This record gives sequence, C-alpha cells and structure tokens, in this order.
Amino acid sequence: MSDSADPIAGLDLTEQAALGSGASFWTTKAIGPVPAIVLTDGPHGVRRQSGSATDHLGLSGSEPATCFPPAVGLSQTWDPELVERVGQALGEESRALGVHVLLGPGVNIKRDPRCGRNFEYYSEDPLLSGKLGAAWVRGVQSRSVGASLKHFAVNNAEHDRMRASSDADARTLREIYLRTFEIVVRQARPWTVMCSYNRINGVYASENPWLLTTVLRGEWGFDGAVVSDWGAVADRAAAMAAGLDLEMPTTGGVSDAEVVRAVSAGTLDTATVARAAGRVAQLTQRVTQTDNTATSFDADAHHQLAREAAQRAIVLLKNDGDLLPLAPSPLAVIGGFAQEPRYQGGGSSHVNPTRLDIPLDEIRKLTGDHPVSHCSGSDIAAAVAAAESAESAVVFLGLTAEEESEGYDREHIDLPETQLELLRAVVQAQPRTVVVLSHGGVVRLDAVAGLAPAVVDGALLGQAGGGALADVLFGVVNPSGRLAETVPLRLQDCPAYLNFPSEAGHTVYGERMFVGYRWYDTRDLPVAFPFGHGLSYTRFEYSDLAVSTVDAGLSVRLTVTNTGTRSGREVVQAYVGLPGSSVGRPVRWLAGFGAVTLEPAEQRAVEISISRDDLAYWSTDAGRWVVETGEYAVWVGASSRDLRLTAAVTVTGDEPTRPFTRDSTLGELLADPVAAQSIADILSSASPFDTGDSALGTNLLRMLESVPIGRMVAFSAGKVTGEQLDRLLASVNAQRS
Ligand code: BGC
Repeated sequence: MSDSADPIAGLDLTEQAALGSGASFWTTKAIGPVPAIVLTDGPHGVRRQSGSATDHLGLSGSEPATCFPPAVGLSQTWDPELVERVGQALGEESRALGVHVLLGPGVNIKRDPRCGRNFEYYSEDPLLSGKLGAAWVRGVQSRSVGASLKHFAVNNAEHDRMRASSDADARTLREIYLRTFEIVVRQARPWTVMCSYNRINGVYASENPWLLTTVLRGEWGFDGAVVSDWGAVADRAAAMAAGLDLEMPTTGGVSDAEVVRAVSAGTLDTATVARAAGRVAQLTQRVTQTDNTATSFDADAHHQLAREAAQRAIVLLKNDGDLLPLAPSPLAVIGGFAQEPRYQGGGSSHVNPTRLDIPLDEIRKLTGDHPVSHCSGSDIAAAVAAAESAESAVVFLGLTAEEESEGYDREHIDLPETQLELLRAVVQAQPRTVVVLSHGGVVRLDAVAGLAPAVVDGALLGQAGGGALADVLFGVVNPSGRLAETVPLRLQDCPAYLNFPSEAGHTVYGERMFVGYRWYDTRDLPVAFPFGHGLSYTRFEYSDLAVSTVDAGLSVRLTVTNTGTRSGREVVQAYVGLPGSSVGRPVRWLAGFGAVTLEPAEQRAVEISISRDDLAYWSTDAGRWVVETGEYAVWVGASSRDLRLTAAVTVTGDEPTRPFTRDSTLGELLADPVAAQSIADILSSASPFDTGDSALGTNLLRMLESVPIGRMVAFSAGKVTGEQLDRLLASVNAQRS
C-alpha cells in the first residue's frame, strides 16, 4: 500500500487501536476512510441477524437464507467442484444480505466422534478436509465476500473449549491438525483466518506467535487478517503482538484502551498496532472493492443446488439383495424425522431456511397412487401394523438436535435404545425395511446394520434433503456419497477414547497422527463401515493401474468400467504407504481422489495426481517436511478397506544429511553405506565384545546398535581414542556431503 493509498496513514494510535475490535456483535468500526463491514456465520448458510437480537449461539432468529448441507453432509460428496458452486451461491447470498465476510469454512479434524461440533467439520482426514475447504473458500471469495477459515487451530472438542490446552507434538500438529489449514491457505488464500478459543501446548491460539505469525504468515504466506473467535481474546495486547488483527465481537472499547495503555507502558510497539489496523483496512478494501450492496439472490436456483448437493451427499451404507431402489408400491414410513426432518446442527451456524423439503411429502410425490402411511414410531404397535400392511417400510432414525450441538460434546455414540427396539419390531413384521439415518456426529451402527437389509446415511442434508432422500430411495438418483469419517464398532475402539475430553485443562493428543482410519487400518481393527465407504445401484470395476513419478509427485492412472445396469458416479480413492519407513507412519493414508460418471458398460480413464507434499512426513529434527527415499505402495480403491489395485513406485527423497557425531549410535552409522565399513573395522578391532555367537544367548550386535559411538572410547578401554573417532567421523562426514 503506497502512503497516498494507505487508509490508516492519517489515523492516530487510538483510532488504529479501535480498528482492531468490533463495533457491535457482527460489525467492525468505520474510522476515517476505513468503512465498517459485516461478518456473520456461516458456514452452510448465511445467518444474517438484524435488529438488536444478536448472538453467536444460534439463539436468536435471522433472515431467510438457503440452508445447504452442513459440512458433515457436504464432505460426503467428495466433490470439490460442487462445494465450490455451493461457495459461490453462499457468496451471492452474503452479498444480497449485506454480509462482507462469511465465517467459514470450519475445517477442524474430527478427532473423536463425541465432539459436539463434528457436524460443522468435514472429515477425519486432512487432505479431504483441505481440498473441500479450499473449494468452499474459492467459491465464496469469487463473489468478493471474504471467507474466515476456522477454528485455527487444534480445536477438536467443545468441552472446556475456551480454556483447555490441546497438547500435541510437532508431527501430530503438522501432519494432521495444521495440515488442513495449510492446504486451504496455500491453495485458496482466504482473506481471514479465525483463531480458536483453546490453548495449544499451553498458549492461547489468540496469543500464539508461533501459530499466527511464524507458521501462518511466515511459512504459508497468509496475507489476510486474523480474526478472533467470538470472545476468544483474553489479553488483547498479547494477542496483537502474536499476530491477531481483529478482535470480535465488540468489547465496548475496553480492549482498545488496553492496547493504548500497553503502548504507553512500552510493552507493545506502535508498529504492531499499525500493522493490525492496516490488515483490517486491507480486509475492508478487499470486500468492498466491488459493489457489495444488497441485491436479491435466486432462491429457487439455490434450493435446487442445495438438493443437488444433498443428493450427492447421501451414502448408501448397505443394500442387501438390492432392496433399493424401491419401486412405487404401498409403503410404511416410520419415524418423526420423516415429517420433521433433522437437517442442520445447533449453535452459531444455525440457518433460517428459505424453505424446507419434508421427506414424507417428497416420498409421496414418487409413489404415484400407492398408499404411503406414516407414524411417528413412538407407539411401536402402530408402526408394526403399518409395516405389515405395506410392501416395504422406511424407518427414519437418528439423533435429535439436543443430543449434539456446538458448545458441548456427547458422552456416547449410541442411538437411543427405543429406536433400536422400534427397528427390531418393524423388521420382524416387514423384512423389506430400509433405515434412513439423520445425525451430525457418527453413531454406532452395528445393531442397525445387523437388523436392516438396507441403510441410507443422510447425515445432515440441509433444507432440500427431504427431496434428495426420496430421489435416492426411488432411484431417481444413484447414490455416490462416501463416508468422510470411519464408523467404529464401539466407542472404545476410537483412537482418542482414553484422551477425550480434557482433564485438568489439558487434552493429551496421545494417539498422535493415528486419527480415524489411520488408526483403525494400522491396527487392523474391525469397523462397522470404513472411511470412504459408499455403495451404488450399479457396479464398477477397476483395471490397468499405472503409477509414475512426475516432478510434482505421482501420477496415478487407471480404468474404471461400469459393469452394472445403471448410470452412476464412482469416487476413486488413492492411498499411499511406505513399508519400512524410518519413522512411525500409518499403514496407508489418503493421497488423492477423483470421480467419474459412467453409463452402463462405459469405461474411462481416471487420473489422480498425488502431490509430493502428500508423501512427506514432518521431521521434528530437521524442522521441515521430508520425503523419504523408498518404494511407496499405491492403492486405488472404493474405501480405505476396499482396495482394488496396487502398484509400487520408487521415489527419490530429500532426506537431510545430518553429520555424524560422537552421539550417533552404532546402528545409525552401520545403516549408512559410507560409514558402515569404517565402523565395522573399529568394532572388530576394538570392541571388548565378541559380536559373533553369544554365550549370553543374545544378538550382541543388535544390542550394541543403540550405543553412541563416543562410548566406544570407554568400552574399548582406550583401544579407540576420542581423537581417532573424531578423525573417522570427519572423514565419513566429508565423503557423505
Ligand atoms: C463460534 C464460531 C462463530 C462465532 C460467531 C463462536 O461461538 O465458535 O464458529 O463463527 O461464534 O458466531
């Protein structure tokens, strides 16, 4: 910004400090040439509150806006292009409703199914979350509305969310919890990032210079404004010094005065205040660069888009005997959610929909003249009678809004026992029973899947979900959604089971990088439904896998053939693994995905690019990402457990060459081709141990592997001197570099 164009050049310290906090619940301050802007939730619809009733808990009403599928549904599409279109529509609605920054996407990793806010997050996998989050940001910002990537970072539970510290090591942070944010920042350049409430390794996210400045700006190149979550700032001056630019909501000027006092006291410098004010001013320029005054939006077109997204989000979990799709015939529809659908989550993201599709009405539209009865299921006898007198039954099960929400976590993942009792009775009376599930967080499904021949997962589908469900039940749409989260058999199997929620103010991320399928698959634990799972009304065959290295990483190519009788879309997932890796890694991880739509008997090539970044691990020693040299396994499949083809590919890595020192172990030296020979000579000439057959019944060479070579001076009783060792290490290091 040149001085003449610099909107804060003429502002004094008090005015600059004032720019860095809200004027009201949802607005910033207009000061000098800097206009006020409006920020609001987000993410799956615009929650524009007007008048005096404002809150960040979804308590007060808001103006009508399209309620798209929340992230839990949207993620099941595995479709960045569709998510980008949803983002565009959200951007248009934001503009029409006078909103400049839409507070989303929420991309925190689903670490544990009990997190009350999982419905607002995409996945247990950072790549899937990152690709979808980036698409959302691109879409919203294409309409000159800013996104706010949240909640940065490691905010994976609601319990004690405003205080607790998420304690995780460097690899865990980099490879899982920061990775999604990194992908979105690098690929979509959001105009704001929202720092979370919690602490990270003891330091509040809002006061964390490493997080907000070193990593976010220094490493990832973020050039927007950091906004606080609503009420996340405990010490505004410390936060500003760490890299916070805008505290929300208003503090009535209290924290602005704190900033000015800190400058007077010499604990905060004026450049820091000016920097934050400059970034707020830059944000206002970005979001007002085109005319952002209210126009209308096309509610019909957006409802149709919400339906398309919901159709694509539905996952067919089970379909024994091809019970689905149903042909129009007498049907019993059971369950309250058929008439009062559960379609979004509770809390700050709660949207006032422009309209609402009722599943029962939509089902009736597709059954012609056939009778469709409905009962709530709270009286089991009536449900049984209805199911008996029909030719098939559809039972709606799931979680009520009160059972999961922003602000608190669940204590278990079970469906209410009364729902299972109902299902048992209905299936006994009517074997042709389909279950439709509505829920934000994962629920235990072994009992449901054991009883019902067909299970359709509707997660949360937004305002048009009712029509989309009917479309899938009757085959108007062939389902192609895929789980973005593993459904475990039991809560006790979950990776964070013993470390959730926080205890005495700390959450120990003891399972490290082994989150979701990384845990279940590496431990080879049985699950109810694996990550990436989802059936279709047709069948697909995979063939001709070819994997090659390219500059950017790997190129994966295969052929997919529709061998069934219906047109359908197949989501192809590419996983990689490195057997024999020098560090602990999951057996495989998602490294790319793609999709293809095929008519019966049609076949097409599918190409998936795997970025070199997605082969890397975070080296704590080197303080950077490292790609190991080795033979990587690449699998393509229809879930993390349905791997159809595999190939091996040799990758040349970029491991750092660290010089050997006296602290290097014999094992490390022997593993190095250059060092090995010299060390072997020393060992045989100077070791007091006979490294051949051992009288102790042990492999002495292996025992010695962990001995630092410097200790050989003492062990050899002076046969090897320290100087000799140093000369040898210097010569080895010289040959290696
Ligand atoms: C939530 C944010 C939300 C903000 C404003 C907070 O409670 O954590 O996601 O954007 O309120 O409503």
